[in-house]
Amino acid sequence: MAGGKLGVGVLGAHTWAEKAHLPGYAADPRVDLVAICDVVPERAAAMAQMFKARRVYTRPEDLLADPEIEMVDVCTPTDTHFKLGMDAIARNKHVLCEKPIARDAREAFLLARAADKARVKSKVGFTFRYSPALRQIRAWIEDGTLGEIFHIHGLEQNSQFLDPHFPLRQVPAGIDFQPKHPIPQSIVGYGSHLVDLVRWMGGEYKSVVSTMSNYVPERIVRGYEGMQRINVDDGTVALVEFQSGAQGMLQTSIVAVGNYPGIEIRVYGSKAAAVGRLVTERGAAETLHFATADKVEFEPVELPASHYPPGTSVMTEWRELYYRNLVRLWVGEILEGRPSEGDFLDGARSQEIVDACVLSHVERRWVDFPLYHDV
Ligand SMILES: NC(=O)c1ccc[n+]([C@@H]2O[C@H](COP(=O)([O-])OP(=O)(O)OC[C@H]3O[C@@H](n4cnc5c(N)ncnc54)[C@H](O)[C@@H]3O)[C@@H](O)[C@H]2O)c1
Repeated sequence: MAGGKLGVGVLGAHTWAEKAHLPGYAADPRVDLVAICDVVPERAAAMAQMFKARRVYTRPEDLLADPEIEMVDVCTPTDTHFKLGMDAIARNKHVLCEKPIARDAREAFLLARAADKARVKSKVGFTFRYSPALRQIRAWIEDGTLGEIFHIHGLEQNSQFLDPHFPLRQVPAGIDFQPKHPIPQSIVGYGSHLVDLVRWMGGEYKSVVSTMSNYVPERIVRGYEGMQRINVDDGTVALVEFQSGAQGMLQTSIVAVGNYPGIEIRVYGSKAAAVGRLVTERGAAETLHFATADKVEFEPVELPASHYPPGTSVMTEWRELYYRNLVRLWVGEILEGRPSEGDFLDGARSQEIVDACVLSHVERRWVDFPLYHDV
């Protein structure tokens, strides 16, 4: 920890790193951005220059061996997360990993256990947990303002992949493009966030039932030439029974007309209800509404400046706003030795729920938790 600052190394220097992670580190004075690594050297060099990293690597093992780096940020393609996460833990580094943290839930539970055993802190890139509006709803659940929770509704839907010419990403290499059931896509890319947000609000799931559909049969897939006939889930709908007895409803869609990030969380309790809507409109990243049992009209809520990272407001671009808030909390958790929220165990539970949604669709039945008894 040089001069009280946290030494950070970032693996992966492309789209999401540039838009979300690196602006978060650049804005936090407690961060020393030691190095950036990408297997494509010019990407690593360009990002290092833009965000003033002190060193550039092109081999992840060199970044992991750097003694000045205490926290490793894994912002590479999904199928590389497990190995890079495990390698970072083996070096006793704290790890932030993008979601999903592994190729399947079993691997994700292994990562969670390894981090625990090594006593390093872990965090998943659950961007929307760091929305000021959703954090307020969560605080209202915890302090009893909403009363007993009856219903939780969660949506993550926008038109990111409605245009078939917009390349689909994160499709594992070498898979069959026309399986009988859709290749999990929206339920993984968007769903891993959504099922986590809903669990964060409502607690552990007892059972889930879901259905997945494909609406755009042909599209461009990154890494392949020309249009591809590919059967992916463009939308998934699920019903949830929580262990608490509350009811939940979920929908993910990558083809629903609407703006980014397209999240809406509604929580209805015995005393009050709250709706957080993370949809960029007229420049504002999100809105929050609140109603009580005796005054049922929903009123807009304006949060005080302390809910936002210094220098940001509800008018800050959503990716930057949420990641700056994530970095603000995460760096504090490490430097002040506090437990980390949204850690690898939460990431593994999220993947278990996603797997259960897929299994429910394939077998057309309710699926109970825990799904895996041996992890
Ligand atoms: N949390 C969110 O809301 C959110 C949003 C978008 C993307 N993501 C996730 O972020 C991750 C990155 O997404 P992206 O869109 O930036 O991907 P990308 O493919 O555009 O960029 C990944 C970069 O990693 C580099 N890379 C690949 N293997 C590497 C390795 N072993 N070591 C170092 N660098 C390596 C690639 O060269 C590329 O530059 C994905 O897992 C994605 O699911 C999360």
